[in-house]
Amino acid sequence: MNNSYAYRIEGGYPVMGEIACLGAKNFAIKAMIAALLGESPSLLTNVPAIGDVDITAELLTSVGATVERIDNMSLRIDPTTTSTSIVPVPHSGSNRAPILLLSALLHHFESVAVPVVGGCKIGARAIDFHLEAIREFGGVVDETDEGYVARRVRPLKGTAIELPYPSVGATETCLYLGVLAEGRSVISNAAIEPEIMELITMLRAMGAIIFTTPGRDLHIEGVRRLKGVHMEVLGDRIEAASWACLACASNGDVTVHGVRPETLGNFLSYYQQIGGGIELKSVGSIRFFRNGELRPAVIETDVYPGFSTDWQQPFAMLLTQAHGVSIVHETVYENRFGYLKDLSVLGAHTQLTTHCLGGAACRFRDKNYEHSAIILGPTPFKAASLTIPDLRAGLAYIIGAAVARGTSHIAGIEYLERGYGDIVPRLASMNLQIERVKIEAERGM
Ligand code: EPZ
Repeated sequence: MNNSYAYRIEGGYPVMGEIACLGAKNFAIKAMIAALLGESPSLLTNVPAIGDVDITAELLTSVGATVERIDNMSLRIDPTTTSTSIVPVPHSGSNRAPILLLSALLHHFESVAVPVVGGCKIGARAIDFHLEAIREFGGVVDETDEGYVARRVRPLKGTAIELPYPSVGATETCLYLGVLAEGRSVISNAAIEPEIMELITMLRAMGAIIFTTPGRDLHIEGVRRLKGVHMEVLGDRIEAASWACLACASNGDVTVHGVRPETLGNFLSYYQQIGGGIELKSVGSIRFFRNGELRPAVIETDVYPGFSTDWQQPFAMLLTQAHGVSIVHETVYENRFGYLKDLSVLGAHTQLTTHCLGGAACRFRDKNYEHSAIILGPTPFKAASLTIPDLRAGLAYIIGAAVARGTSHIAGIEYLERGYGDIVPRLASMNLQIERVKIEAERGM
């Protein structure tokens, strides 16, 4: 984790140009884990060269699977060399992958041990739905000092599961469990994010029998074996939304390549509602710009197809520049506004509250979590020094520094580089005055 570097950004200029979205982090690492279910190698293309992929590759090789980077964006994963199901703590950092390995390895091993899971500090990041699902399929799960151990005394059996909340990760756990379980499974109240649908497509291509339905129910007929597959990672809709917000906040003009417009869904509507402009240039290319004065908005994050919780941070930066009072009600994570308090150093005027400022169903109602934000705008931003608290907030800080007049310094870039790769050259090519500098040099300046 390179925490000895920071970004230095000279703000106040419009960000102009083109950028290619990387492959979606939140599908790539799940596809890598799905490859372990096959009885032959898989080839994944458009895999982003980011920290989270490296961590997941380390986890796969730690159980003996063979992971080869064919070129900068392709991975060949051979599951046939998998030799153990005891997953050690990864040296290269932590993410949500370990808990998914608990289910993905349980078909081929009678006991699987994984370390405690990581991920951004944006809430409790509970895994009770995952553990309960493993038990419903016939596994036994114990918590240990280092993490979790799952065991089975016979092949996993298909079952009916109702998820308490449409959890992305728990839905992925149920898919990994169901496709090779004996018989039929019905997963109710499942997540239906684009990354989930891509995982279903990949598993189908591997030979799995999965039926989607008009609602949130998934029906799975377990099969005896799955084969390796060639799968391209879809463009990252969270990256795309971040570049769109950067364009609009800086009064610039950015064309984003490599993203499916339909995966941006309601983001495009909220973006236009507040005064952002979009133009579909060609398949997978969208031009984003500002269409006049920015207007405030009332946003409630939700599971797909609602406004994604991962779009909330870059979008909030836009709202700081909108003329009026905006409200954001975060209903997916209980503690995802930490970054907003820090933005006051840039000049943002925000207020957090534990109240639910919106009508959407919310698990945090009457709980002591500051999960609603009031954002006043427009507030002129002045340069400042910031430290990134989590991955998606990091992009919000980049946007804030790009808008602020003067030279800002952003530390904690290891979070960003875990999820966005080395973004400096990509952003610098769009007229953003950004460079990666050693912190000692910065302190000395
Ligand atoms: C995935 O996290 C993404 N991460 C998140 O993106 C994303 O914000 C989230 O889905 C929601 O879309 C990856 O795919 C690696 P959840 P995940 O299970 O699967 C509660 C990013 O920046 N919950 O849908 O961990 C949980 O606490 C990251 O790329 C339980 O209570 O999300 C949360 O409140 C941030 N028990 C809610 O469900 C469980 O067992 C949503 O979590 C599981 C989840």
